[in-house]
Formats: sequence, structure tokens, C-alpha cells
Amino acid sequence: MAEAVRSVRTVLVTGGAGFVGSNLVRLLLAERPAWRVVNLDKLSYAGAGGNLDDLADEPRYELVRADVCDAARVFEVFRRVRPQLVFHLAAESHVDRSIHAAAPFLRTNVEGTRVILDAARALGEGVRVLYCSTDEVYGDLGPRGRFTEQSPLCPSSPYAVSKAAGDMLARAYHRTFGLDVVVSRCSNNYGPYQYPEKLIPLMITNALEDRELPVYGDGLNVRDWIHVEDHCRGMLAVAERAAPGAVYNLGGSCEKTNLEVVREILRLTHKPMSLIRFVPDRPGHDRRYAVDASRAERELGWRPAHEFARGLEATVRWYREHQAWWRRLKDEGFRAYYERQYGTAAAGRPAGTG
Ligand code: NAD
Ligand code: DAU
Repeated sequence: MAEAVRSVRTVLVTGGAGFVGSNLVRLLLAERPAWRVVNLDKLSYAGAGGNLDDLADEPRYELVRADVCDAARVFEVFRRVRPQLVFHLAAESHVDRSIHAAAPFLRTNVEGTRVILDAARALGEGVRVLYCSTDEVYGDLGPRGRFTEQSPLCPSSPYAVSKAAGDMLARAYHRTFGLDVVVSRCSNNYGPYQYPEKLIPLMITNALEDRELPVYGDGLNVRDWIHVEDHCRGMLAVAERAAPGAVYNLGGSCEKTNLEVVREILRLTHKPMSLIRFVPDRPGHDRRYAVDASRAERELGWRPAHEFARGLEATVRWYREHQAWWRRLKDEGFRAYYERQYGTAAAGRPAGTG
């Protein structure tokens, strides 16, 4: 175990108000009762769900509203809080938005990462930074094989490029400055609190609203799905047990075409298959991702616990039972995004009513 991690008292999570971040904060508070968790988040559109509002009275939890690109503010927070462990998750995270406008992605995901790394460096020794990367840094896989940690980084979208840049910068800070950095590269997550722009929550909520389900291209692109709780447990294992500078893939070994996922969602929501609408493909759309996570399993003793069919069923149930949460997020701003992404007809009305 790395020196910093042996004596953790305070953990700083960036992006802790988002989908993965809020699940991680809950996991840390539940499973590490001696740790205090500080969440540094800008509360962007993706962090506006109030995902952790119920923790307002939790003495071991603090929310600091700040932008990771605001160096003065970030340095001040690091000096005050003095974390032994930093989980850096804050990011612009949606590929389609990065195709519309790359600038916010380069700003937050690259410059914001630089600020976090410099703030950690300024604390001196005794701090470890986990950079939450993604399997998208590897790019398009082709029909066979799986990404290993040695696969070359060949990102396709502006989002993936910005994450690859952050990933490389984090490792450069380890090599050049000796900063204690570890990296996790996870596949596609699903589960509670995922903002409804991503495939699974978009399809569940559209189905519950009797809206069309927009499937890009032929629907045969493949993603490797993992429950968000398994991703969070994987990051915790990497943070606590990886050697400084190490990189670990995390994946669910659960490859599905998008059409398989969408059809299963329609089955679980008891809605007709006729809601599926094929729409023009995402530019530069990666055909397939699949992750070899055997190194994490072998060296860290981590493995995913959630099975996809049950996990998806529970996720559909969660969205059915938390309609106020996602209906509030599918607001005017979301509708404007949706219209730009999918066209006016899709944005305006439930299927079959136009
Ligand atoms: P998300 O969009 O749901 O959440 C991102 C969070 O970051 C939000 O709370 C947002 O307010 C915050 N944020 C954005 N810009 C910020 C800024 N400039 N300063 C401070 N906070 C800011 O994203 P997510 O799906 O939870 O992803 C979290 C991290 O996990 C990202 O780094 C992403 O690349 C990585 N990741 C996600 C997946 C996945 O499938 N969701 C898989 C692998 C890795
Ligand atoms: O692989 C990890 C990555 O997974 C994370 O790094 C990203 O933050 C996360 O957004 C996700 O990226 P994807 O592009 O794979 O996820 P998304 O949910 O946007 O799309 C999943 C697949 O579904 C992809 O092949 C595109 C397709 N899709 C998506 C949407 C939103 C559709 O067919 N229709 C849609 O409307």
C-alpha cells in the first residue's frame, strides 16, 4: 500500500455531484467510516441533480462548489483540506456534446486536470491522486480482442482526446515530478443517478414517457457494460492497492450491442419495439469497446459483482421510482440540447401523437 493511503483521513473527490462521483462518495462514506469526504464540484448541468442533497447533515461530508480550472480556488481548497487521497473525476463527459463543441472538454478535462495535479504537487509528499480515465482513450477496437493496459491510446472523439490528454498528463506528473498518481480506465457504466443524456437512462426515461428511442446508425455498435458500483469499488481498490504510477483497466466483461440493450429496456418497461427509431450515426462513432480487466482482478483482487440483466432491471426500477429526479433534469435546457441532437420532431412530442 502506498504511504499516503496508509494514513488517509481526508479524501477529496472532484466531480462528486455527477453520476459516478455521487455513487463513489456514497461508497466511501459507507465503507471507510474513518474518512472525511470533500466533494469539489462546479455543479454543471450534469451535477445539478442534487444527487447528494440527503448528505447535507452528514458531518463527514462537505460540498465545495468550485471549478477545477479556477487554480486559486482549487489551491486554497487543497491547502485547507489537505487530502491524503484525491479521486479526480470532474469532467465534461458526453461524447455527443464534445462533437458540438470541443472547447469546454479541453478546458475542464485537460486544463482542469493540470490544476488538480499542480495543487496536489504543491502539498508535497503524502498525497495520492487517482485519475479516473476511460476505455475510450484506446479508440475503436475492431471485431476481435480486448484492450489491455498496453494497448496504444488512439482516441476518436474530442471527449476521448481530452480524457487521453488528462491520462497522459497525470502519468507525466508521476514520471517527471514523482507525484503519486494512479490511473483507472473503465468501460461504460450504468446505474442510478446517471444524467438522462447517456444511452441507458435516455432510453429508459424516453420509454417511460412513451417517446421514441433514437438509435444511432445500425444499432450494432458494442459497449462493455459495468454497474457503477463495481466501477467505484474498482477505483477504491486501485487507490488503496496500486503501486505509484500504475494503470488498471476496469470492465464488466459484458459486451452488448446497443440494439440488445435498447430492446431489453423496452421489454423491462413493457413498451412496444416500435418506439425504436434509427437516426443518423454519431460522427466518428467507435464500433466496439471491450476491456481486459484481468490485471486488476489478479493484482488487486477486484472483480465486478453485478450481473447485467439484474443490474439493468434494478436500474429501470430506480428510474421508475425516481421520476421527479429525472423529469426535473429533462428541463428546457435539456430539450434545447435534445432538439439540436435529434431534431425538432423527436424533441417535441411523445411517439405516435404527431
Ligand atoms: P457526469 O457528467 O455525470 O459528472 C461530471 C461531474 O463533474 C458533474 O458533477 C459536474 O458538475 C462536474 N464538473 C464538470 N465540469 C467541472 C469543472 N470544470 N469543475 C468542477 N466540476 C466539474 O460524468 P460521469 O459519467 O459521472 O463521469 C465521471 C468521470 O468518470 C469522468 O471523468 C468520466 O470520464 C469518467 N468515466 C465515466 C464512465 C461512464 O460510463 N460514465 C466510464 C469511465 C470513466
Ligand atoms: O466507455 C466509457 C465511456 O462511456 C465514458 O468515458 C463516457 O463518459 C460515457 O459517456 C460513455 O461513452 P459512450 O459514448 O460509449 O456512451 P453513450 O451513452 O453516449 O453511448 C453508448 C452507445 O449508445 C454508443 O454506441 C452511442 C449509442 N447511442 C447513444 C445515445 C445517447 C445511441 O445509439 N443513441 C443515443 O441517443
